[in-house]
Amino acid sequence: MDVNLTELEKRFLSELEVIESIGALELLEADYLGKKWKLKAILWGIKDMSIEEKKQIGVKANELKNSFTDFLVSKKEALKKALIEKRVQEESIDVTLSYSSKMRGHKHPISHTTELLEDIFISLGFKIEDGPQIEDERHNFDMLNIPDNHPARDVWDTFWISDEINNHKNPGEKLLLRTHTSPVQIRTMLSQDLPIKVIVPWRVFRYEQEDARHTCNFYQLEGLVVGEGVTFWDLKWTLDTVMKELLGKKTELRFRPSIFPFTEPSAEVDVSCQICGGTGRVWDRRCSMCSGTGWVELLGAGMVHPKVLEGCGIDPMKYSGFAFGMGIDRIAAQRFWVSSSRMFYQSKLKMNEQF
Ligand code: PHE
Repeated sequence: MDVNLTELEKRFLSELEVIESIGALELLEADYLGKKWKLKAILWGIKDMSIEEKKQIGVKANELKNSFTDFLVSKKEALKKALIEKRVQEESIDVTLSYSSKMRGHKHPISHTTELLEDIFISLGFKIEDGPQIEDERHNFDMLNIPDNHPARDVWDTFWISDEINNHKNPGEKLLLRTHTSPVQIRTMLSQDLPIKVIVPWRVFRYEQEDARHTCNFYQLEGLVVGEGVTFWDLKWTLDTVMKELLGKKTELRFRPSIFPFTEPSAEVDVSCQICGGTGRVWDRRCSMCSGTGWVELLGAGMVHPKVLEGCGIDPMKYSGFAFGMGIDRIAAQRFWVSSSRMFYQSKLKMNEQF
């Protein structure tokens, strides 16, 4: 009997050796370890053996079965590894290959607009700051004079980080995807000496019903100037200069009174529509970009609220500041005459290749 088992092992190993695919390996497995295993055991003549012999052979057969299993498992691993290696080889990209210069690509209109804005602000003496996109409640809301339960929180529809994480955090430490770039105002005032003159471009998130002007992910550019004798006039001059530089000398700005908990007084700022030149009409039709009003809302702004300054350890009796937050998407839409900022996120080459 022993001879038979040794034979079987030899046969198994030689068959295993030539196997090159997982499919064939599974067939071999069925062959040796499936129902047929029993069949073979019977064929070897177990039924003719004495009880003692049957016991012995049973133990050996079991050992063999276990070793077959081990062989099959390691072969399967080896085959899988080889398969992955083959795919990696086949699918790897040779970055040294030459390419057609026509395929060089170009900047996305939002990156392009951001860089233009950065250049203009740098020329006016601003520094660029950055902050985390996953923010805490304290910086995104509390320290901007928007405490918990303040109705103004509803204005910023928020993506909170999952309860599993946030339920273990104290109020103020709960995490969210920042709803605006304003928390970086706080971070800057807490960490830098006066005077402060910074811009903070980049990504923000809101839980929005998406339409032509609203997307869940969009881009803002925050501005903050704090020092002695900073006035609303400085704010107006700065925004007027930047928008004329960006959109053209004929661009006009309109300040409308508004409310933000972190600025006082506050304003919303519109620019004269670039599509219809502020007339509200294009070829005798109502301009769809500005809904015929001649104005497009681009940003919120105001004088930094004394409470916000105080919270950051700045004496509001001695210092003052202005802040603004503009939608980069909207500015890009104005600059490039795109009627819906949602188009910027649809990855449509037909659209993106026009810039
Ligand atoms: N953070 C405000 C928003 O997202 C905009 C803003 C910034 C308003 C700075 C005033 C001052 O709506």
